Amino acid sequence: MLFDLKPKERKRDLFGREQELQSFLDAIQKQVSLILLLGVRRIGKTSLLKVGLEECNAPHIYFDLRILEAEGVSKPSLYRLFSSSFNVFLSRRAKISDLLKKVKGVSFAGHGIEFDWSREGLKLTELFQTVDQWAGKEESRVIMAFDEAQILRLYKGGGKSDFRSLFAYCYDNLHSITIVLTGSEVGLLFEFLGLDESKSPLYGRYAETITLKPFDNQTSRKFLIEGFKEYGVKPPEEFVDKAVEKLDGIVGWLTYLGNKSIKEGFSSATIDAVMEEASRIVETEIRKLEVLSKYYLLTLRAIANGSASWTEIKRTVEAWAGIPLTNAQITRTLEKLIEMGFIEKKENLYAIIDPLVKFTVKRRRYRRGFPEKWVQ
Ligand SMILES: Nc1ncnc2c1ncn2[C@@H]1O[C@H](COP(=O)(O)OP(=O)(O)O)[C@@H](O)[C@H]1O
Ligand SMILES: [Mg+2]
Repeated sequence: MLFDLKPKERKRDLFGREQELQSFLDAIQKQVSLILLLGVRRIGKTSLLKVGLEECNAPHIYFDLRILEAEGVSKPSLYRLFSSSFNVFLSRRAKISDLLKKVKGVSFAGHGIEFDWSREGLKLTELFQTVDQWAGKEESRVIMAFDEAQILRLYKGGGKSDFRSLFAYCYDNLHSITIVLTGSEVGLLFEFLGLDESKSPLYGRYAETITLKPFDNQTSRKFLIEGFKEYGVKPPEEFVDKAVEKLDGIVGWLTYLGNKSIKEGFSSATIDAVMEEASRIVETEIRKLEVLSKYYLLTLRAIANGSASWTEIKRTVEAWAGIPLTNAQITRTLEKLIEMGFIEKKENLYAIIDPLVKFTVKRRRYRRGFPEKWVQ
């Protein structure tokens, strides 16, 4: 069902994205070592990844790194996540268990595989080597998919066990593994990987990149209409118009609206309620920005009424902050907002990507000279 809120796993539930799915499958087919799946939050990365993993018919291991973000990115929690992700994988494949049993730091208890995270425990390179060895024997590729991979930059596993080195090792030495990384915070992911950064272990490696864009107007409308059709209902034209005007092409919000309208009806009030709920989710995300620097929100606010140039943004932010800012401060703030996936730059104008971020920052009020004291 198109309006199911969970990330989609079956092709028939994935609307559109034929081209992106094909690119993903082609990359697997071509035995590319590193694939990046990029796009803002709620644009459908996890859905495309899961459907792609099902469709490609290759064995795969899926790591949901958001679990680490919630728990704290520590070695014990990473190893726990690895054990549980491997368990899902192993439940379908007995033979690799025999190989893994021989690896130091791997044990099998009643509830499945366990990885020892202590210093003398499991080395991730050995784990990956074993998976590669198994894949080689099976004459298949194994896909290892890390969802929201920018979170891995926060992992300090002790010693040299940085994920960039591990990925570089896989890229150079393990020929039966494909690594897929998704990222909402695209700039942070690139900065972490350092594919163009001569000091990075991954410098100069090739990555096949697939970027998910918001649906265009027509596709968003079709998505809603098709979704409602699955319930045998037809939404009024004005409802679809308003929904697409307010939520634009972010499929996550459209799905949420579809899901709610089925229960609550096609009224303007339903759209407003979705915007309120969505805005609360966005609010918790932008609060994290506020903690990093008070200028992030002023800058977002300066762009919220439409695209703006660097000079306009500087003027507005300074007026609101009540103090002059350096050019470098403005440039850095804008660059960071782009890296974190909140804004984009097109022909020298900056714009907010997600209409709900726009909606949320516009509603916030502030006191002149005290940007940190926003009044709700
Ligand atoms: N192509 C699609 N067709 C139907 N629903 C989708 C599609 N892409 C995403 N969704 C829905 O949108 C929401 C966000 O998708 P998700 O894959 O979790 O996005 P992301 O991983 O980019 O944050 C989920 O409710 C999911 O079911
Ligand atoms: Mg996701």
